[in-house]
Amino acid sequence: MWVQSLSLTDLRSYEQVDCALERGVTTFVGRNGQGKTNLVEAICYLATLGSHRVATDAPLVRTGATQGFIRCEVVNDDRVIMIELAISPGSANKARVNRTPVPKVRDVLGLLRTVLFAPEDLALVKGDPSDRRKFIDDLLVQRTPRLAGTRSDYERTLKQRNALLKSASIARRTAGTEMLRTLGVWDEQLAASGSELVAARTSLLAAIMGLAREKYAFISGDDDTLLGLTYVSSLGADAPASAPADQLVSADREGWRLAILEAIKNKRGDELDRGITLIGPHRDDILLTLGQMPAKGYASHGESWSIALALRLAAFELLRADGVDPVLILDDVFAELDAARRQRLAEQVGTATQVIITAAVEMDIPDSLRGVRFTVSAGTVTLQDPA
Ligand SMILES: Nc1ncnc2c1ncn2[C@@H]1O[C@H](COP(=O)(O)OP(=O)(O)OP(=O)(O)O)[C@@H](O)[C@H]1O
Ligand SMILES: [Mg+2]
Repeated sequence: MWVQSLSLTDLRSYEQVDCALERGVTTFVGRNGQGKTNLVEAICYLATLGSHRVATDAPLVRTGATQGFIRCEVVNDDRVIMIELAISPGSANKARVNRTPVPKVRDVLGLLRTVLFAPEDLALVKGDPSDRRKFIDDLLVQRTPRLAGTRSDYERTLKQRNALLKSASIARRTAGTEMLRTLGVWDEQLAASGSELVAARTSLLAAIMGLAREKYAFISGDDDTLLGLTYVSSLGADAPASAPADQLVSADREGWRLAILEAIKNKRGDELDRGITLIGPHRDDILLTLGQMPAKGYASHGESWSIALALRLAAFELLRADGVDPVLILDDVFAELDAARRQRLAEQVGTATQVIITAAVEMDIPDSLRGVRFTVSAGTVTLQDPA
Protein backbone atom coordinates (compact mmCIF):
# COMPACT_ATOMS: atom_id res chain seq x y z
CA MET A 1 0.00 0.00 0.00
CA TRP A 2 1.10 3.56 -0.48
CA VAL A 3 0.11 7.10 0.30
CA GLN A 4 -0.73 9.05 -2.85
CA SER A 5 -1.43 12.41 -1.27
CA LEU A 6 -1.10 14.14 2.06
CA SER A 7 -2.80 17.38 3.10
CA LEU A 8 -2.49 19.07 6.45
CA THR A 9 -4.43 22.02 7.76
CA ASP A 10 -3.50 23.71 11.03
CA LEU A 11 -1.38 20.77 11.97
CA ARG A 12 1.84 21.36 13.96
CA SER A 13 3.80 24.07 12.09
CA TYR A 14 1.64 23.86 8.94
CA GLU A 15 -1.22 26.20 8.19
CA GLN A 16 -1.80 24.35 4.94
CA VAL A 17 0.34 21.91 3.00
CA ASP A 18 -0.48 19.56 0.15
CA CYS A 19 1.91 16.93 -1.20
CA ALA A 20 1.45 14.46 -4.02
CA LEU A 21 3.51 11.37 -3.25
CA GLU A 22 4.65 8.45 -5.35
CA ARG A 23 5.37 4.77 -4.96
CA GLY A 24 8.97 3.91 -4.20
CA VAL A 25 11.29 6.20 -2.30
CA THR A 26 10.35 9.74 -1.25
CA THR A 27 12.70 11.90 0.77
CA PHE A 28 12.02 15.08 2.70
CA VAL A 29 15.21 17.08 3.20
CA GLY A 30 15.54 20.25 5.24
CA ARG A 31 17.35 21.91 8.07
CA ASN A 32 16.44 21.18 11.69
CA GLY A 33 13.05 22.38 12.82
CA GLN A 34 11.61 22.97 9.33
CA GLY A 35 8.73 20.52 9.60
CA LYS A 36 9.97 17.18 8.22
CA THR A 37 8.94 15.07 11.19
CA ASN A 38 5.64 16.95 11.39
CA LEU A 39 4.76 15.49 7.96
CA VAL A 40 5.55 11.89 8.77
CA GLU A 41 4.03 12.15 12.24
CA ALA A 42 0.74 13.12 10.57
CA ILE A 43 0.81 10.10 8.25
CA CYS A 44 1.49 7.80 11.17
CA TYR A 45 -1.24 9.42 13.23
CA LEU A 46 -3.77 8.28 10.62
CA ALA A 47 -2.46 4.74 10.89
CA THR A 48 -2.23 4.46 14.66
CA LEU A 49 -4.41 7.32 15.98
CA GLY A 50 -1.51 8.42 18.11
CA SER A 51 1.70 10.39 17.82
CA HIS A 52 5.09 8.83 18.41
CA ARG A 53 6.20 12.08 20.06
CA VAL A 54 3.39 13.12 22.38
CA ALA A 55 0.73 11.36 24.40
CA THR A 56 -1.96 14.00 23.95
CA ASP A 57 -3.40 15.71 20.87
CA ALA A 58 -2.96 19.35 21.92
CA PRO A 59 0.61 19.82 20.56
CA LEU A 60 -0.51 18.48 17.16
CA VAL A 61 -2.80 21.40 16.49
CA ARG A 62 -1.10 24.53 15.20
CA THR A 63 -0.65 27.13 17.91
CA GLY A 64 -3.54 29.53 17.69
CA ALA A 65 -5.90 27.08 15.93
CA THR A 66 -8.55 24.98 17.69
CA GLN A 67 -8.69 22.08 15.25
CA GLY A 68 -6.18 20.37 13.00
CA PHE A 69 -6.92 18.27 9.90
CA ILE A 70 -5.07 15.40 8.26
CA ARG A 71 -6.13 14.01 4.89
CA CYS A 72 -4.48 11.13 3.05
CA GLU A 73 -5.31 9.20 -0.06
CA VAL A 74 -4.14 5.64 0.38
CA VAL A 75 -3.78 3.24 -2.53
CA ASN A 76 -4.23 -0.41 -1.71
CA ASP A 77 -4.72 -3.05 -4.40
CA ASP A 78 -5.42 -0.32 -6.96
CA ARG A 79 -8.26 1.06 -4.87
CA VAL A 80 -7.96 4.59 -3.50
CA ILE A 81 -9.30 5.29 -0.01
CA MET A 82 -9.47 8.82 1.31
CA ILE A 83 -9.06 9.05 5.08
CA GLU A 84 -9.72 12.34 6.83
CA LEU A 85 -9.30 13.15 10.45
CA ALA A 86 -10.26 16.23 12.43
CA ILE A 87 -8.25 16.54 15.61
CA SER A 88 -9.95 18.61 18.30
CA PRO A 89 -8.18 18.58 21.65
CA GLY A 90 -10.72 18.78 24.44
CA SER A 91 -13.52 17.28 22.39
CA ALA A 92 -14.01 14.13 20.31
CA ASN A 93 -11.94 13.71 17.14
CA LYS A 94 -13.87 12.88 13.99
CA ALA A 95 -13.02 10.79 10.95
CA ARG A 96 -14.34 10.37 7.42
CA VAL A 97 -13.59 7.60 4.97
CA ASN A 98 -14.25 8.43 1.32
CA ARG A 99 -16.05 11.55 2.53
CA THR A 100 -18.49 9.57 4.69
CA PRO A 101 -18.28 10.12 8.46
CA VAL A 102 -17.50 6.91 10.35
CA PRO A 103 -19.28 6.15 13.65
CA LYS A 104 -16.08 5.81 15.63
CA VAL A 105 -12.67 7.31 14.88
CA ARG A 106 -11.25 3.85 15.63
CA ASP A 107 -12.95 2.60 12.45
CA VAL A 108 -10.08 4.04 10.39
CA LEU A 109 -7.56 1.72 12.04
CA GLY A 110 -6.28 -0.84 9.56
CA LEU A 111 -6.98 1.27 6.43
CA LEU A 112 -3.45 2.64 6.42
CA ARG A 113 -0.61 0.63 7.80
CA THR A 114 2.71 2.26 8.55
CA VAL A 115 5.94 1.29 10.21
CA LEU A 116 7.85 4.26 11.52
CA PHE A 117 11.40 4.32 12.72
CA ALA A 118 12.22 7.55 14.56
CA PRO A 119 14.90 8.79 16.97
CA GLU A 120 12.37 8.36 19.80
CA ASP A 121 12.69 4.60 19.21
CA LEU A 122 15.90 4.58 21.19
CA ALA A 123 13.49 4.44 24.13
CA LEU A 124 12.57 0.90 23.02
CA VAL A 125 15.95 -0.13 24.34
CA LYS A 126 16.83 2.51 26.91
CA GLY A 127 13.38 3.56 28.10
CA ASP A 128 10.79 2.26 30.52
CA PRO A 129 8.74 -0.92 30.12
CA SER A 130 5.84 1.27 28.92
CA ASP A 131 7.82 2.12 25.77
CA ARG A 132 8.22 -1.56 24.91
CA ARG A 133 4.58 -2.31 25.75
CA LYS A 134 3.53 0.47 23.39
CA PHE A 135 5.65 -1.03 20.62
CA ILE A 136 4.05 -4.44 20.91
CA ASP A 137 0.52 -3.12 21.48
CA ASP A 138 0.67 -0.73 18.53
CA LEU A 139 1.81 -3.56 16.32
CA LEU A 140 -0.97 -5.80 17.66
CA VAL A 141 -3.57 -3.19 16.81
CA GLN A 142 -2.15 -2.66 13.33
CA ARG A 143 -2.42 -6.37 12.63
CA THR A 144 -5.73 -6.90 14.44
CA PRO A 145 -7.63 -3.60 14.74
CA ARG A 146 -10.25 -5.30 16.96
CA LEU A 147 -7.65 -5.39 19.73
CA ALA A 148 -7.83 -1.59 20.00
CA GLY A 149 -11.13 -2.22 21.78
CA THR A 150 -9.58 -4.80 24.09
CA ARG A 151 -6.77 -2.40 24.89
CA SER A 152 -9.10 0.43 25.83
CA ASP A 153 -11.42 -1.96 27.77
CA TYR A 154 -8.41 -3.01 29.77
CA GLU A 155 -7.29 0.54 30.43
CA ARG A 156 -10.78 1.57 31.52
CA THR A 157 -11.13 -1.43 33.83
CA LEU A 158 -7.71 -0.78 35.30
CA LYS A 159 -8.56 2.84 36.04
CA GLN A 160 -11.82 1.94 37.76
CA ARG A 161 -10.30 -0.93 39.64
CA ASN A 162 -7.48 1.31 40.87
CA ALA A 163 -9.98 3.92 42.03
CA LEU A 164 -11.88 1.26 43.93
CA LEU A 165 -8.73 -0.21 45.45
CA LYS A 166 -7.74 3.22 46.61
CA SER A 167 -11.02 3.86 48.39
CA ALA A 168 -11.15 0.28 49.69
CA SER A 169 -7.69 0.76 51.08
CA ILE A 170 -8.77 3.93 52.88
CA ALA A 171 -12.07 2.46 54.14
CA ARG A 172 -10.64 -0.95 54.86
CA ARG A 173 -11.90 -1.18 58.41
CA THR A 174 -15.37 0.26 57.86
CA ALA A 175 -17.03 -0.17 54.48
CA GLY A 176 -14.48 -2.70 53.24
CA THR A 177 -16.56 -5.83 52.60
CA GLU A 178 -19.06 -4.30 50.20
CA MET A 179 -16.20 -2.82 48.25
CA LEU A 180 -14.41 -6.13 48.15
CA ARG A 181 -17.47 -7.72 46.57
CA THR A 182 -17.46 -5.05 43.86
CA LEU A 183 -13.74 -5.61 43.47
CA GLY A 184 -14.46 -9.23 42.55
CA VAL A 185 -16.41 -8.04 39.50
CA TRP A 186 -13.52 -5.85 38.40
CA ASP A 187 -11.12 -8.76 38.96
CA GLU A 188 -13.09 -10.79 36.41
CA GLN A 189 -13.11 -7.97 33.88
CA LEU A 190 -9.44 -7.24 34.35
CA ALA A 191 -8.62 -10.90 33.79
CA ALA A 192 -10.91 -11.07 30.74
CA SER A 193 -9.38 -8.21 28.74
CA GLY A 194 -5.95 -8.61 30.35
CA SER A 195 -5.67 -12.24 29.30
CA GLU A 196 -6.63 -11.44 25.72
CA LEU A 197 -3.97 -8.76 25.59
CA VAL A 198 -1.20 -10.88 27.11
CA ALA A 199 -2.01 -13.89 24.98
CA ALA A 200 -1.94 -11.72 21.87
CA ARG A 201 1.31 -10.07 22.92
CA THR A 202 3.14 -13.31 23.65
CA SER A 203 1.98 -14.85 20.43
CA LEU A 204 3.11 -11.75 18.48
CA LEU A 205 6.44 -11.75 20.26
CA ALA A 206 6.99 -15.36 19.27
CA ALA A 207 6.20 -14.44 15.67
CA ILE A 208 8.56 -11.47 15.57
CA MET A 209 11.49 -12.87 17.52
CA GLY A 210 13.26 -14.66 14.65
CA LEU A 211 12.73 -11.72 12.31
CA ALA A 212 14.15 -9.22 14.78
CA ARG A 213 17.19 -11.41 15.35
CA GLU A 214 17.75 -11.74 11.62
CA LYS A 215 17.41 -7.97 11.06
CA TYR A 216 19.80 -7.17 13.89
CA ALA A 217 22.43 -9.55 12.55
CA PHE A 218 22.04 -8.02 9.11
CA ILE A 219 22.23 -4.37 10.16
CA SER A 220 25.11 -4.92 12.59
CA GLY A 221 26.95 -7.31 10.29
CA ASP A 222 27.50 -9.52 13.36
CA ASP A 223 26.14 -13.07 13.23
CA ASP A 224 27.54 -14.06 16.60
CA THR A 225 25.87 -11.70 19.02
CA LEU A 226 22.24 -12.75 19.04
CA LEU A 227 19.39 -10.40 19.83
CA GLY A 228 16.91 -11.93 22.27
CA LEU A 229 13.34 -10.92 23.18
CA THR A 230 11.63 -12.37 26.25
CA TYR A 231 8.21 -11.54 27.60
CA VAL A 232 8.45 -10.71 31.29
CA SER A 233 5.08 -11.14 32.97
CA SER A 234 4.08 -9.43 36.20
CA LEU A 235 2.80 -12.88 37.20
CA GLY A 236 6.41 -14.04 37.53
CA ALA A 237 6.69 -17.77 38.06
CA ASP A 238 2.88 -18.07 38.01
CA ALA A 239 2.70 -17.13 34.33
CA PRO A 240 1.45 -19.98 32.14
CA ALA A 241 3.78 -21.39 29.50
CA SER A 242 3.11 -19.77 26.13
CA ALA A 243 1.69 -21.75 23.25
CA PRO A 244 3.91 -22.15 20.20
CA ALA A 245 3.87 -19.22 17.77
CA ASP A 246 1.83 -21.05 15.16
CA GLN A 247 -1.12 -21.73 17.46
CA LEU A 248 -4.12 -19.50 17.78
CA VAL A 249 -4.07 -16.73 20.36
CA SER A 250 -7.21 -18.14 21.99
CA ALA A 251 -5.32 -21.32 22.91
CA ASP A 252 -3.33 -19.27 25.42
CA ARG A 253 -6.02 -17.01 26.63
CA GLU A 254 -7.84 -19.18 29.16
CA GLY A 255 -4.54 -20.12 30.78
CA TRP A 256 -3.65 -16.48 31.23
CA ARG A 257 -7.13 -15.61 32.49
CA LEU A 258 -6.97 -18.20 35.25
CA ALA A 259 -3.39 -17.30 36.11
CA ILE A 260 -4.24 -13.59 36.41
CA LEU A 261 -7.25 -14.34 38.64
CA GLU A 262 -5.15 -16.58 40.87
CA ALA A 263 -2.34 -14.04 41.12
CA ILE A 264 -4.81 -11.25 41.93
CA LYS A 265 -6.21 -13.37 44.75
CA ASN A 266 -2.75 -13.86 46.17
CA LYS A 267 -1.92 -10.19 45.92
CA ARG A 268 -5.15 -8.94 47.48
CA GLY A 269 -3.47 -7.81 50.71
CA ASP A 270 -0.65 -5.99 48.91
CA GLU A 271 -3.06 -4.35 46.51
CA LEU A 272 -5.23 -3.09 49.35
CA ASP A 273 -2.16 -1.81 51.20
CA ARG A 274 -0.94 0.10 48.15
CA GLY A 275 -4.25 0.97 46.54
CA ILE A 276 -3.16 -0.04 43.00
CA THR A 277 -3.40 -3.02 40.66
CA LEU A 278 -0.14 -4.95 40.87
CA ILE A 279 -0.88 -7.70 38.35
CA GLY A 280 -1.62 -7.54 34.64
CA PRO A 281 -0.32 -6.51 31.23
CA HIS A 282 0.18 -2.90 32.38
CA ARG A 283 3.05 -4.18 34.57
CA ASP A 284 4.69 -6.44 31.99
CA ASP A 285 7.86 -5.85 30.00
CA ILE A 286 9.89 -7.22 27.12
CA LEU A 287 13.45 -8.03 28.03
CA LEU A 288 15.88 -7.30 25.20
CA THR A 289 19.23 -9.04 25.30
CA LEU A 290 22.37 -8.99 23.19
CA GLY A 291 24.21 -12.24 23.66
CA GLN A 292 24.11 -12.95 27.38
CA MET A 293 23.62 -9.33 28.43
CA PRO A 294 20.55 -7.19 28.83
CA ALA A 295 20.54 -4.45 26.18
CA LYS A 296 19.34 -1.82 28.60
CA GLY A 297 22.26 -0.50 30.58
CA TYR A 298 24.84 -2.48 28.58
CA ALA A 299 24.41 -1.92 24.83
CA SER A 300 26.32 0.95 23.23
CA HIS A 301 24.53 3.84 21.57
CA GLY A 302 25.03 2.38 18.09
CA GLU A 303 23.99 -1.08 19.23
CA SER A 304 20.87 0.30 20.91
CA TRP A 305 20.04 2.21 17.74
CA SER A 306 20.47 -0.95 15.66
CA ILE A 307 18.29 -2.99 18.03
CA ALA A 308 15.48 -0.45 17.78
CA LEU A 309 15.85 -0.41 14.01
CA ALA A 310 15.80 -4.22 13.91
CA LEU A 311 12.53 -4.26 15.88
CA ARG A 312 10.91 -1.85 13.43
CA LEU A 313 12.20 -3.73 10.38
CA ALA A 314 10.91 -6.96 11.91
CA ALA A 315 7.51 -5.31 12.40
CA PHE A 316 7.61 -4.32 8.74
CA GLU A 317 8.34 -7.90 7.64
CA LEU A 318 5.58 -9.28 9.83
CA LEU A 319 2.98 -6.89 8.40
CA ARG A 320 4.30 -7.56 4.90
CA ALA A 321 3.85 -11.29 5.48
CA ASP A 322 0.15 -10.60 6.14
CA GLY A 323 -0.09 -9.72 2.47
CA VAL A 324 0.26 -5.96 2.11
CA ASP A 325 3.41 -3.86 2.43
CA PRO A 326 2.93 -1.18 5.05
CA VAL A 327 4.32 2.28 4.28
CA LEU A 328 7.83 2.35 5.70
CA ILE A 329 8.90 5.65 7.24
CA LEU A 330 12.45 6.39 8.33
CA ASP A 331 12.72 9.63 10.26
CA ASP A 332 16.30 10.82 10.65
CA VAL A 333 17.78 7.36 10.70
CA PHE A 334 20.79 7.64 8.40
CA ALA A 335 22.71 10.32 10.30
CA GLU A 336 23.28 7.89 13.17
CA LEU A 337 24.68 5.02 11.12
CA ASP A 338 28.13 4.40 9.70
CA ALA A 339 28.53 3.99 5.93
CA ALA A 340 28.35 0.19 5.97
CA ARG A 341 25.20 0.15 8.08
CA ARG A 342 23.62 2.81 5.84
CA GLN A 343 24.22 0.66 2.78
CA ARG A 344 22.82 -2.44 4.44
CA LEU A 345 19.75 -0.53 5.59
CA ALA A 346 19.25 0.87 2.08
CA GLU A 347 19.35 -2.69 0.74
CA GLN A 348 16.74 -3.77 3.28
CA VAL A 349 14.24 -1.00 2.69
CA GLY A 350 14.63 -0.60 -1.07
CA THR A 351 12.06 -3.33 -1.78
CA ALA A 352 9.18 -1.75 0.17
CA THR A 353 6.26 -0.48 -1.90
CA GLN A 354 6.71 2.99 -0.42
CA VAL A 355 9.52 4.33 1.72
CA ILE A 356 9.37 7.85 3.15
CA ILE A 357 12.65 9.21 4.46
CA THR A 358 13.51 12.40 6.27
CA ALA A 359 17.02 13.80 6.63
CA ALA A 360 18.60 17.08 7.62
CA VAL A 361 21.67 16.33 5.50
CA GLU A 362 20.98 15.02 2.02
CA MET A 363 24.43 13.45 1.72
CA ASP A 364 23.59 11.06 4.55
CA ILE A 365 21.10 9.19 2.35
CA PRO A 366 22.65 6.44 0.22
CA ASP A 367 22.43 7.12 -3.53
CA SER A 368 20.55 3.88 -4.07
CA LEU A 369 17.61 5.51 -2.29
CA ARG A 370 17.47 8.40 -4.73
CA GLY A 371 13.72 8.51 -5.48
CA VAL A 372 11.69 11.70 -5.32
CA ARG A 373 13.10 14.49 -3.16
CA PHE A 374 11.28 17.33 -1.50
CA THR A 375 12.84 20.30 0.26
CA VAL A 376 11.14 21.30 3.49
CA SER A 377 11.75 24.85 4.56
CA ALA A 378 9.79 27.09 6.92
CA GLY A 379 6.51 25.27 6.46
CA THR A 380 6.70 24.87 2.69
CA VAL A 381 7.34 21.62 0.89
CA THR A 382 8.84 21.90 -2.60
CA LEU A 383 9.60 19.19 -5.11
CA GLN A 384 13.29 19.20 -6.12
CA ASP A 385 14.19 19.05 -9.79
CA PRO A 386 15.44 15.55 -10.55
CA ALA A 387 19.23 15.88 -10.85
N1 LIG B 1 1.52 22.90 17.53
C1 LIG B 1 2.47 23.57 16.88
N2 LIG B 1 2.19 24.80 16.35
C2 LIG B 1 3.14 25.48 15.69
N3 LIG B 1 4.39 25.05 15.47
C3 LIG B 1 4.72 23.84 15.96
C4 LIG B 1 3.78 23.05 16.69
N4 LIG B 1 4.38 21.90 17.06
C5 LIG B 1 5.65 21.99 16.60
N5 LIG B 1 5.85 23.13 15.94
C6 LIG B 1 7.10 23.58 15.31
O1 LIG B 1 7.49 22.63 14.34
C7 LIG B 1 8.91 22.62 14.25
C8 LIG B 1 9.44 21.24 14.37
O2 LIG B 1 9.12 20.57 13.23
P1 LIG B 1 9.73 19.11 12.99
O3 LIG B 1 9.82 18.36 14.24
O4 LIG B 1 8.93 18.53 11.89
O5 LIG B 1 11.18 19.51 12.50
P2 LIG B 1 12.19 18.64 11.64
O6 LIG B 1 12.26 19.24 10.28
O7 LIG B 1 11.85 17.21 11.72
O8 LIG B 1 13.54 18.97 12.40
P3 LIG B 1 14.78 17.99 12.83
O9 LIG B 1 15.67 17.92 11.65
O10 LIG B 1 15.41 18.76 13.92
O11 LIG B 1 14.21 16.70 13.26
C9 LIG B 1 9.45 23.41 15.43
O12 LIG B 1 9.97 24.62 14.98
C10 LIG B 1 8.24 23.62 16.31
O13 LIG B 1 8.29 24.83 16.97
MG1 LIG C 1 12.68 15.65 12.73
